[in-house]
Amino acid sequence: METNAANPFFSQISVIGAGTMGNGIAHVFAQNGFKTHLIDVHQPQLDKALATIHKNLDRQLNKGTITAEIVGQTINNVRTFTSVTAGISGSQLIVEAATEDVDLKLKIFQQLGAEADPDCILATNTSSISITKIAAVTGHPQQVIGMHFMNPVPVMKLVEIINGYATDKSVTEKIVGLSKRLGKIPSVVNDYPGFIANRILMPMINEAIYSLYEGVAGVESIDTIMKLGMAHPMGPLQLADFIGLDVCLSILQVLHQGFGNPKYAPCPLLVNMVAAGKLGVKTGEGFYSYTAGSKDLVISSRFL
Ligand code: CAA
Repeated sequence: METNAANPFFSQISVIGAGTMGNGIAHVFAQNGFKTHLIDVHQPQLDKALATIHKNLDRQLNKGTITAEIVGQTINNVRTFTSVTAGISGSQLIVEAATEDVDLKLKIFQQLGAEADPDCILATNTSSISITKIAAVTGHPQQVIGMHFMNPVPVMKLVEIINGYATDKSVTEKIVGLSKRLGKIPSVVNDYPGFIANRILMPMINEAIYSLYEGVAGVESIDTIMKLGMAHPMGPLQLADFIGLDVCLSILQVLHQGFGNPKYAPCPLLVNMVAAGKLGVKTGEGFYSYTAGSKDLVISSRFL
């Protein structure tokens, strides 16, 4: 494995938010030799994130993709903090992966703008909130960039890198280089609603839900056709459950409002499912039903 001598600008990285994306992002930084500070205001969330990192490292060890030495180094590289101020001190990069809530993100970035080292790069893992809007509250928007990882972060190769209106070219170059150091493939895009990944993915998912809503086909047919016909690892309805139906709805709303084009209007079935609290894997039911510990894909009784 390369050492950080190959990329001297970055040695310590802070990750804010210890949910699914935050723990995956911390995992890949720590595994690639960076001192990683994982920050969350809730200690139980940090404990859960560390347990997930251990579980995923064990999975990689059992598959023989990493050695026991790397597992030990990765665990040693992660420190947890409940205070943002303490957790960001001395970092050259902060990656925010908090809940997808615009007011929360603006509050975090206001604090980062005031407290982070002046040359620290401020990145957000947002899936659709404007980088330019987030950057505007920091006081140094040239240092702000989107670094959009895909779930599950240790597995997925892509990092979608989003330039805000004011992002400095040297910041983009550093983040492209860093993403390669993580073994990822970076792809740079500009800051418009949904960027590229979700601008294309979410209309496909929405169309799949419309096809179900209009009775064109059932859950199994829709997902089988897209899986086997297009070689997608998951069908669009299973993928929507995996991402979270609330997240899909909120991204579609950003697209709909941002472009003012009715083609992005979320399907009423998606709106109803979110209102009913059927959010997919995380709540145990969406288009499929999920039982803890089971890998079987069972269609929700609502759609049989
Ligand atoms: N950490 C480490 N390794 C993991 C892992 C994790 N969290 N989850 C799975 N893996 C590994 C497994 O060990 C396995 O490794 P090998 O190939 O070496 O055997 C591999 O990933 C496949 O896992 P499984 O065999 O358990 O299951 P699978 O074959 O069904 O694959 C999947 C699972 C990787 C999630 C696959 O179904 C997939 O690629 N699905 C699509 C995921 C996708 O599209 N993600 C993007 C979502 S959109 C997004 O994130 C952005 C947004 O803004 C909404």
